[in-house]
Amino acid sequence: MLNRRSFISVGSALAALLPMLAGAGRAHAKSGKLPVEYDPRGAVGRLERLPLLDLESRQDFMAGVTAFSTTGELAQAARAHGEAIIKAKGLDPTKELPVETATALFESDPVIAMRDRVWFSAHNYEHDILDGHFKGHAERYLAVLEAADRAGPGRLELNPDLPIPQYARHEIHQQPGGYVGNPFAGHIYHYATNMFYRGGNDQDERHLGYAAACPVPQDGGVKRILDLGTGIGQLAVAMKERFPPAEVTGLDVAAPMLRYAHMRAVDLDRDVIFTQRLAEDTRYPDGHFDIVISYILFHEVPADTSRAIIAEVHRILRPGGVFYPMDFNLSASATAFRRYGEWKDHRWNNERWRLEHATVDFDAEMRKVGFTVEDRSDKTAIFGKITGVKAA
Ligand SMILES: C[S@@+](CC[C@H](N)C(=O)[O-])C[C@H]1O[C@@H](n2cnc3c(N)ncnc32)[C@H](O)[C@@H]1O
Repeated sequence: MLNRRSFISVGSALAALLPMLAGAGRAHAKSGKLPVEYDPRGAVGRLERLPLLDLESRQDFMAGVTAFSTTGELAQAARAHGEAIIKAKGLDPTKELPVETATALFESDPVIAMRDRVWFSAHNYEHDILDGHFKGHAERYLAVLEAADRAGPGRLELNPDLPIPQYARHEIHQQPGGYVGNPFAGHIYHYATNMFYRGGNDQDERHLGYAAACPVPQDGGVKRILDLGTGIGQLAVAMKERFPPAEVTGLDVAAPMLRYAHMRAVDLDRDVIFTQRLAEDTRYPDGHFDIVISYILFHEVPADTSRAIIAEVHRILRPGGVFYPMDFNLSASATAFRRYGEWKDHRWNNERWRLEHATVDFDAEMRKVGFTVEDRSDKTAIFGKITGVKAA
């Protein structure tokens, strides 16, 4: 594996990459040495280490705080308070309630409020730390990105003329500049989601698992695969690892995410195409792909856009092709406490489309455009996966 910092710091790799550096990394190439804080600290498996031990320690600390407030003792205490409130009101804990009713029930409970405050503040603080670091050393990080833009394997297709829809222009889950308004969106997303996964995805564990579980068309033919809303490309890379001969494309609206995705795929020596397009209007020909997959795209777009994407996927899949979307609540069903969680995520974590998303019944929408949809036993699960097959 080619370590990213070797682009501009290690002799032999530098020599091999000098032609690329002619147009990029100019300041560092000229000075011939890096500031001491950029000493390569290497990678832990697939994860490029942050260049300062201090930053890495803070990441660990914030991952601990996140664990405490999302699955640990504080989260459990909040859940117990939620259950006690439901019981005290004589309500059925499995019953659905309108979001306004659910919110009124839980929002003034101090333990639930503390849990929310700790989790959202940790998320916010983590973003600020990362944003400050990458912007504070922008020249160096941009130089590495620029060099990687032109490197292979795989390729990066950016479209500066793509009209970015208004719904995508906001600071999603408190990420500074969101996906489209910060050149370091991919860097921030990668390290911040490592915190979100509490250290359980720094080797792409989740995405490798999802790729392994992805159903294959009945005739076994898998020539072209598309990952919609690929972000930093973890799922696209995982699909390439599962299907090495296939042409794998990761599609996203956000150039900063795609640049990071491509840089990372180059590091990992994976031949993946990363392309800047809209999931609802991909411009691919009819019947182009054998598999279309997506991971946590839909809860971040308006309901009508979700419907448009489902129709577009049906169009670009070949007969017998498979659509495998994964996301939070892919059905409209949720308990009162979970509804409250969605509202909180919407209101305090700036997940702007989360509530609207919860109104889309994916099974029904997929059937409406012509997919055969497998019966799912997990319709109330917080995280859903659906397999849709286009008629052969
Ligand atoms: C929560 S991220 C998921 C990224 C990635 N799939 C992962 O595994 O982490 C959602 C991604 O969808 C992208 N996105 C949002 N709306 C889109 C659209 N209409 N077309 C293409 N990408 C979109 C965002 O830019 C972002 O990178």
